[in-house]
Amino acid sequence: MTPPLMEGQVVVVTGAGQGIGREHALAFARAGAHVVVNDLGGAVDGTGGCESIADAVVAEITSAGGSAVASYDSVAIAEGAEAIIQKAIDAFGRIDVLVNNAGILRDKTLLKMTEAMWDAVIAVHLKGTYLCTQVAARVMREQGAGGRIINTSSSSGLEGNFGQSNYGAAKAGIFGFTRVTSMELARYQITVNAIAPVAYTRMTENLGGLVPPDLTPDKIAPLVVFLASPFAEHITGRTFGVQGNTIFEYRMEHSPSIHTSQPLWTPEGIAAAFPRLEREPEAPSPSEDSAAASLLGRLPEVFVPEAAGDWSATLRFVFHDAGTHTLRVADGVAHYTPGAEGTATCTIDFREAQVLLDLVAGKVSPQAAFMNGLMKADKMGDLMKFGTAFRLEALSESHPEPLEHTPQAGLNTELVGKVYRGDALFIEPEHTLAYAHATDDLNPRYIDSDRAEGLIAPPIFPVRLANDTVGQAVRDPELRVDMLNLVHGEQEMIYHDVLRPWDLIAPRTSVASIEHKRSGELLNLRTRLMRDGEAVVEILTGLFIRDRSAPKRAKAPAEPPPERTYIASETQTVAQDQPARYADASLDRNPIHLDPKVAEAAGLPSVILHGLCTMAFATRALVNHVCDGDPSRLARVRVRFSRVVLPGDELTTRIWREDEETVGFETLNGAGKSVLSGGRATIL
Ligand code: NAI
Repeated sequence: MTPPLMEGQVVVVTGAGQGIGREHALAFARAGAHVVVNDLGGAVDGTGGCESIADAVVAEITSAGGSAVASYDSVAIAEGAEAIIQKAIDAFGRIDVLVNNAGILRDKTLLKMTEAMWDAVIAVHLKGTYLCTQVAARVMREQGAGGRIINTSSSSGLEGNFGQSNYGAAKAGIFGFTRVTSMELARYQITVNAIAPVAYTRMTENLGGLVPPDLTPDKIAPLVVFLASPFAEHITGRTFGVQGNTIFEYRMEHSPSIHTSQPLWTPEGIAAAFPRLEREPEAPSPSEDSAAASLLGRLPEVFVPEAAGDWSATLRFVFHDAGTHTLRVADGVAHYTPGAEGTATCTIDFREAQVLLDLVAGKVSPQAAFMNGLMKADKMGDLMKFGTAFRLEALSESHPEPLEHTPQAGLNTELVGKVYRGDALFIEPEHTLAYAHATDDLNPRYIDSDRAEGLIAPPIFPVRLANDTVGQAVRDPELRVDMLNLVHGEQEMIYHDVLRPWDLIAPRTSVASIEHKRSGELLNLRTRLMRDGEAVVEILTGLFIRDRSAPKRAKAPAEPPPERTYIASETQTVAQDQPARYADASLDRNPIHLDPKVAEAAGLPSVILHGLCTMAFATRALVNHVCDGDPSRLARVRVRFSRVVLPGDELTTRIWREDEETVGFETLNGAGKSVLSGGRATIL
């Protein structure tokens, strides 16, 4: 027999004498937990108090064979919070789960609100959640076995509710508190989430039928037990709405951004641009599903039999948010059916219906959608034929969405200076470890977890942290990066300090410059990894967007190789699974490294290795041979990516001294051709 889900766990539920908290306590007890039933037993407005309601819940649990003790302290004062958690330790020896549920109401519109009403509500909800969480988390950290905190927010704060500015502010504060503490406590394997319930209790029974009696409070508890259980080990920092049998997630979302190329915005400029902030809907709406379906239904109208020739195919369109659709092409005719019909020759998978709408509106090219993983296909030939046999652009004529920009070739220089921000994230030890392994770099400073000085991150690992914001820039439709002609040209890393596991890093990537070259454009992105308000690592990513129409330059005659004295050299063979390993470790999952069909479509013999992985190989050689194995001596390293690297290639990195502080290096493939050139490193 499998043991109950929460067997032996010690759970504290505040405000558990009645309503939603009581149901939490009963559910945890049924799941095998020891429960501290806390409640000071006051009126809805928090006045008065009695022990009987907490006692009654404890009696209910113990008479059913469960394990529980009562606590009558207030969550709103520090001594109360201490005593509540201490109760768990005295009775059961530890605490594994805290559910902050206690709550009161003192509703008044702002103009009539008194300071006492404001303070009382903030004290129980927001301060009480802070106090109990702090005491519990300190104990959980000492115990060393992780923990679960589940807070109680409300739609009143997340969406707004008339007459509840005190309560709404406290509940929205709990949303922010949940996000921040989830980040801070992640390193102790303590998760912090919140629920925003709706249930018929004494708090809501007088709302004139707004909350019907069938929304019983026992419908809330399963979500809370789930969040406390092993099922939710990796869920943290999130807030879930729950009412009756419905659960959803509250998310914080950004609108599209507006930017100015002037040194500063002016109020008039903001007024003119403001409608653009409001343009996009906040979330995919059901109408997008039907818009996508109706577009697909009209595909036969824009079918061009001459372009299709004798092509026959059954294309299956799968939208994660708008169902499955089938398009059959045979004998010069195209036929659409909703749903899955016949055996598909090619499945085209769209992450969301919006991608199809953007394709048709010309906001994104099919290539960019494909290269960015917004759209996948399992047969390249059919996908390409689809692109030519249907005049997608003809559908856009009747599609209402106007184009944001008149399509225009080249990068948008107005975006120089634009900044892309990422969430602050902890460096997780398993990620630095995985990076070391993916780059075959087993320096004990990266992998030996018993090291007294603690672990540090490999020097090229920071690119993993920059992946999101660099991706935001490259995918920014306003920047107009032509993904199919994009090559990673150069990379430079500047280290102000080493990174360590559990550093909290906020990445910021800006468009540093756009340079026009004879054969294309060079886009330079500068990423700063911020730690405690300071840039700890700077990353310069040079991306070249080839202009295929530019006349080819005659090859310059090869210069004789310079006379050099190599001080070190290191050779290795690229493993067959190296691109896949590196993709996981770096988060760069561009299909050109993973999907042989995409590589083939790009004219390559096989998937290629990430340039940054080759750079990591070369940096490993530098650390081993000129830094005595100590990566903290590396102040700066830069390379140019000069040739693709394939699995099975034999790579040799050669290093020479330029001056006291600087070394030069290059990496050659088995044929002696350089794959990394212009290598320079500053060593401290
Ligand atoms: P309830 O009034 O039935 O239960 C709240 C319990 O908290 C009471 O037993 C009360 O004595 C206790 N409590 C109040 N102040 C306390 C303090 N300082 N220390 C210890 N215990 C204290 O209310 P209900 O509906 O069960 O609410 C539970 C939680 O869910 C509250 O945080 C509430 O704000 C929240 N919530 C409820 C909604 C609903 O539809 N019922 C909607 C959104 C949020």
